[in-house]
Amino acid sequence: MKPIIAPSILAADFANLQSEIELLNQSAGEWIHCDIMDGRFVPNISFGLPVLEAVHKHARKPLDVHLMIAEPHLYIEQFQKAGATNITVHYEVCPHLHRVIEQIKSAGCKAGVALNPHTPVGLLEDIITDLDLVLIMSVNPGFGGQKFIPHTYAKVAALRELIQAKKAHALIQVDGGVNTETAPLLVEQGANVLVAGSFVFQAADPLQTILHLHNLASY
Ligand code: DX5
Ligand code: ZN
Repeated sequence: MKPIIAPSILAADFANLQSEIELLNQSAGEWIHCDIMDGRFVPNISFGLPVLEAVHKHARKPLDVHLMIAEPHLYIEQFQKAGATNITVHYEVCPHLHRVIEQIKSAGCKAGVALNPHTPVGLLEDIITDLDLVLIMSVNPGFGGQKFIPHTYAKVAALRELIQAKKAHALIQVDGGVNTETAPLLVEQGANVLVAGSFVFQAADPLQTILHLHNLASY
């Protein structure tokens, strides 16, 4: 199978968001990745619910919402109403992770957990069978355009082993520094979903770039 490409609109032109979304509607990208940052969990503020609603109005693909916010349990239902298909919360901000995952599923969304670069995949041992998605951060969350952290390859491989050992079904998603160099190596280690922001939107031909990332490797 070929990886799902989830272009991140964090790198899009926010002044022309409608045309950026229409471009993604025509692309080989299967999901639209939406990065929500609160200036508390991460040292940056991106966009929130009203912008997500506006994106949803034009999007013809599932919205893959990556919550980089503290206390995400306070906002799950609002993000579902704003149009989220997948909701991913960070392990580092959820002392009651199992409860939040149940909350996301009760809201009718697919549930994901994101791990910061320093957070080991082994910590998911007792929850992996409940998850639809695990997002491995390959940069420190908060900004697009950062350098890929090479230790990510080993984490993807370890997560694939954990998923197999537990007979779980979670997809493995990688976010940060994805390009034509890192993408095939990630897929080789077991990645199923690749998020790409600046590599797509800074390209001369974003549509071609998305298609290229999609076709580079299979698993
Ligand atoms: C970073 C975000 C990413 C970001 C990736 O905190 O979670 O989704 O948009 O950007 P690139 O692909 O430029 O590294
Ligand atoms: Zn993201």
